[in-house]
Amino acid sequence: MYSSRITGMGFYVPDNIVTNDDLSKMMDTNDEWIQERTGIQERRWIKEGSDDTTSTMGVKASKIAIERAGLTKDDIDFIIFATLSPDHFFPGSGVLIQDMLDMPNVGALDVRNQCSGFVYSLSIADQFIKTGMYKNILVIGSEYHSGALDKTTRGRNLAVLFGDGAGAAVLSRSEDNSRGILSTHLHSQGEHAEVLTVKAPSIIHWIPAILNAKEEDTSYHPFMDGQKVFKNAIVRFSEAISEGLDANNLTAEDIDMFIPHQANLRITQFVQRRFKLSDDQVYSNIQKYGNTTAASIPIAMCEAWEQGKIKEGDLVVIAAFGSGFTWGSVVIRW
Ligand code: COA
Repeated sequence: MYSSRITGMGFYVPDNIVTNDDLSKMMDTNDEWIQERTGIQERRWIKEGSDDTTSTMGVKASKIAIERAGLTKDDIDFIIFATLSPDHFFPGSGVLIQDMLDMPNVGALDVRNQCSGFVYSLSIADQFIKTGMYKNILVIGSEYHSGALDKTTRGRNLAVLFGDGAGAAVLSRSEDNSRGILSTHLHSQGEHAEVLTVKAPSIIHWIPAILNAKEEDTSYHPFMDGQKVFKNAIVRFSEAISEGLDANNLTAEDIDMFIPHQANLRITQFVQRRFKLSDDQVYSNIQKYGNTTAASIPIAMCEAWEQGKIKEGDLVVIAAFGSGFTWGSVVIRW
């Protein structure tokens, strides 16, 4: 059986930096509250009038990833695109990327698993490569959150957390079974679907409901029960990491780099303490970018690799938790 290796990575974030002080001019919040509770100092938000969208940011990240893999667009056999903020209700953004990258007739699949989207996508890509169906798969996570956030005091518990950006990786077939993705582990618990959600627009909140919506109707903005998310996140992150380590007869001491979904610095620090990981074993960049949902892991992984923090032979563990609830992990021998 083949194994799949990450051969190239890239990321793109909009130029426009929005600091906590900038937010305090839009809503009743402050730098101290945001940093103390989340670790976030600033995030990138697409500037009004910019050409950036979920799909164009994905294209920019993809071009870098494909080039770094030493490939051209013609070598890519399949596209997997993870997002909760697609350009259109349908079709998905994967086909827009396929067109923009000029990859005629290559299959494109959208994955709608929110913060776990990139973990789910890597797992799907891994199966296609291990079975021999595809050789090189482009896996992308991209989010344009700032367009849908309620940037008033009413929406402050969510608006301060999220940022825009995209990350991409090329997963390629390898004959060396001791390297690459060792295992992936995916879970969900739909009974908590309403704890972190945007209900509209949707097919059950269609045009008449949108046109008649009152200002106080919050269905059109993301909703989150932050404390419930937090409590579940620390449990599920830990379970997913343990599951990945156990499946490969490894322990936390074997981890060279842990890359969590960048949800909240306090969640990451809890997991770090739980597994007794040193600062060198964990990568965090939520301070600069906020929570970019499906894009957060590929952006963090790419940055860590660019900084020389991921080397050949390293054991890299990725884990995510988010809306759905969905969660999972990926164990990689780099
Ligand atoms: N600025 C200032 N005050 C704020 C605020 C903001 N941006 N957002 C909320 N508050 C206020 C609340 O209104 C509340 O005020 P009150 O006590 O007068 O009612 C107070 O701060 C505490 O709110 P609470 O929601 O209890 O805070 P918290 O300590 O739970 O922190 C989160 C809120 C969102 C930071 C935290 O719950 C969290 O990180 N949850 C997980 C979120 C997450 O990871 N989401 C992504 C999943 S992938």
